[in-house]
Formats: sequence, C-alpha cells, structure tokens
Amino acid sequence: MKAEDVKNIAMIGAGDMGHGIAACCLMGGYRVVLRDIEQKFVDKGMAGIKASFDKLKEKGKMSPEAYTDALARLIPMVDLQAAVKDADFVIEAVPEKLDLKKSVFADLDKYAPKHAILASNTSNISITEIATATSRPEKVIGYHFFNPAILMKLVEVTKGGKTSDESISIAYDIAKKIRKVPVIVKKDSPGFIYNRVNEPTLLLVSKILEAGHPTPEEFDAALKPVMPMPPFELIDYVGIDIAVHGMDYFSQVLSKDYKPSEALMSYLKSGNLGKKTGKGFYDWSKGRPAIDLSKATREFDVNHLIALQVNEATKLLEEGIADDPKEIDLAMANGGGSPFGPFVLAQSIGYNVLLAKLEELHTKFPLDVFVPTKTMKAGNIKV
Ligand code: CAA
Repeated sequence: MKAEDVKNIAMIGAGDMGHGIAACCLMGGYRVVLRDIEQKFVDKGMAGIKASFDKLKEKGKMSPEAYTDALARLIPMVDLQAAVKDADFVIEAVPEKLDLKKSVFADLDKYAPKHAILASNTSNISITEIATATSRPEKVIGYHFFNPAILMKLVEVTKGGKTSDESISIAYDIAKKIRKVPVIVKKDSPGFIYNRVNEPTLLLVSKILEAGHPTPEEFDAALKPVMPMPPFELIDYVGIDIAVHGMDYFSQVLSKDYKPSEALMSYLKSGNLGKKTGKGFYDWSKGRPAIDLSKATREFDVNHLIALQVNEATKLLEEGIADDPKEIDLAMANGGGSPFGPFVLAQSIGYNVLLAKLEELHTKFPLDVFVPTKTMKAGNIKV
C-alpha cells in the first residue's frame, strides 16, 4: 500500500483528541468515520468538529464549499466492526490505559481489512506493547497529536519494535497531507519526544503542590508573559487526569520520582479535572481563567522550565531515542505553542545559566530526574 491508496480513515474515540484529529483528516480530504462507545460521545465529538469548522469558516480560513464538503465526508458510528470494515488507516484515541488499548487493538485487528494500518494516539505508552495484541505488529504505529489537534502542528510517528518502514512512510505522508509537521521517533520510549521532554515540568508542578507554595496562580503568573499557556493552566486545559496517568506511567517505566504527589492526586479524586469539568486548579466555568500577573512569584522563572527541558532533551540523545538535536527542536517547537526548541534556547541563553537554574531546582527538590546530565554539563550541543 502507498499513502495515495489511503481514502478511508476510522477514528476510534471521539473525545478531545479524537474529534480534533478527525477534523484534521477531514480537512486533508479523507472520508472519516468517527466512532465512540455511546451515541452521546459521538454526538459530542461531531459537535466539536462542527464548532471548530464554524470558527474557521467565520474567519474566512475555510470556504463555505470546503465546509460543506468536509462535513459530508464525516460518518458518525457506534458499532466498531462497521466503523473499521472499510478503513485503510485507523487511529485510536481511547483513554490511556494499556489494557483498554490492547483490547481495542485486538478488535481492530479482527475487524479492519488486512491491509489497514493501525495507529495509536497514545501520549506515552509503548507501541511495541500495544502491537502485541494484534497479528500485524508491522502495521502498528504511534501517531501522537497535540491538544488542540486542529491547531498544533506536530505528529510524532513512532516505530514500534516490529513496525515496518512502509507503515512509517505511509503515516508520515498522511501527516504531511493533513498539513502537520511529522517527526519520526526511531526508538519506542516512554513519552516519545515531546512528553518526555516536558514530563520534568509536570514533576515540578506536582512537587510545588506538595510544598504548598507558590500557588498555581502565583507560579503561572510568573510564566504567562512568555508562554501561551503556563503549566498549571495547560494541565487544566489538557486534563489533570491525563497528566496524572502520564506521571503514573512514567513512575512505573522510567523513574519512581514521577509518582504523583498526594496533593496532585487530590484533584483527581475530587473529580475536578480542569477545563472539561469546569474546575481544576482554576475555575473554567466562565471560559479561560484570568491569571493576575501582579501575583507572580519570584521563586521561579522561565529559565527553570527551559533548564528542565534541555536536560531531559539531552537524555533523549544520550539514550539514542533521537540522534539529531534539530529533530528534537522541531518536535518541541511544533507540539505546543513555543516558537523555539530547547537546544536553540540553550544556545542563546547559555548552558551555564541553565545549569545553574537546574542546580537550584535540584537543591530545592533533590530528585534524580533533576540531576544534570553529562551532556548538559558539557553544554556543547550546537543546532
Ligand atoms: N478550533 C478552531 N480554531 C480554534 C480552536 C479550535 N478548537 N481553538 C482556538 N482556535 C483559534 C481561535 O479562534 C483563535 O483564532 P484567531 O487567531 O484567528 O483569532 C486562535 O485559535 C487562538 O485562540 P485564542 O485567541 O482563543 O487563544 P490563544 O491565542 O491563547 O490560543 C491556544 C489558544 C492555541 C490553545 C494557545 O493557548 C496554545 O498554543 N496553548 C498551548 C497548547 C499546548 O501546549 N498544547 C500541547 C499540550 S501537550 C499535549 O497535547 C500532549 C499530550 O499528550 C497530552
């Protein structure tokens, strides 16, 4: 099969990510089946796609013809077998639980045509492991989009242990066709590139909550002037449950340091998960929270976050997960709202400045994850 042969995409999961990815595929000209386990979830996803397209049409970024044409190619469905029966390419975006993903992939393997590629939008979980639930591991890939999928450009295309080069190349071409920036992740590893590099920031957030100061608003206020969404607001936007599941997974496969603090867990237990429930660290019931910049803490600044990113990015190089710092920068600049990747930033700010910031963090929170790597200390990566 070649990328041009792919006409029908099945999107399994119509939540925040599922409906956003489906919208991107529709804009790329594909026929898209949107499937979820209950009609009400499918309806919510359909409404989300329509709302995004309405916004684009109002702003003149989508013509009325393109709008009608795209929505005519969208097919809602609850029955999984029927949803994937004609699919050439299936993208799964169900909750981040390995057992659930494996059972979905076993069904996809059973019902999707033999030629179909099965892609997972997992944020963190091993593609090699998910592929064991199928009889076609060479056709199972990671295909990780970022929230909001309709706007964020990055797609991490991950090669599992048995994925064929053909599957990767088709997935890469499809990502290009839907106007994304694909980055191939050569080694299947927790969090791939983007989430791995950002996970230490989640750890910092978890530890700050445990320490009880600064407050989320005091912390975010210090960073908001230089970030489209500072960390606590972004976690609320993506979902506190998603952040906690990610940290849990990292604590099992990478470092015990990542075990979410009780203070962070209390949000999960209370059901206040952020934007989607109307309340998390902030109140979202009236839209995006207004962060009072006058409350900014002086204890933390953006260089602390950049230091964490650069240090983690050097681990990707040291562990052979990526071999080109430019590819890491490309991923980091396109996954979120930042114009620059960590290595370009390190070069302009100075590794010595960032090393001092990292050491400050490590003194405050003596965690292995915050220990500077050899490469960070050497400070000689040029991009
Ligand atoms: N559909 C269509 N258009 C949308 C939209 C949607 N769902 N949401 C926002 N927009 C448009 C707005 O209409 C607006 O358009 P104009 O510029 O034409 O007016 C534009 O996007 C900007 O939106 P806003 O003015 O509302 O707000 P903003 O400037 O702050 O942008 C944002 C919003 C794009 C989300 C920005 O805050 C941002 O980049 N945030 C960071 C997001 C990020 O880091 N994502 C990665 C999360 S990590 C992840 O996803 C990994 C994982 O595995 C969990």
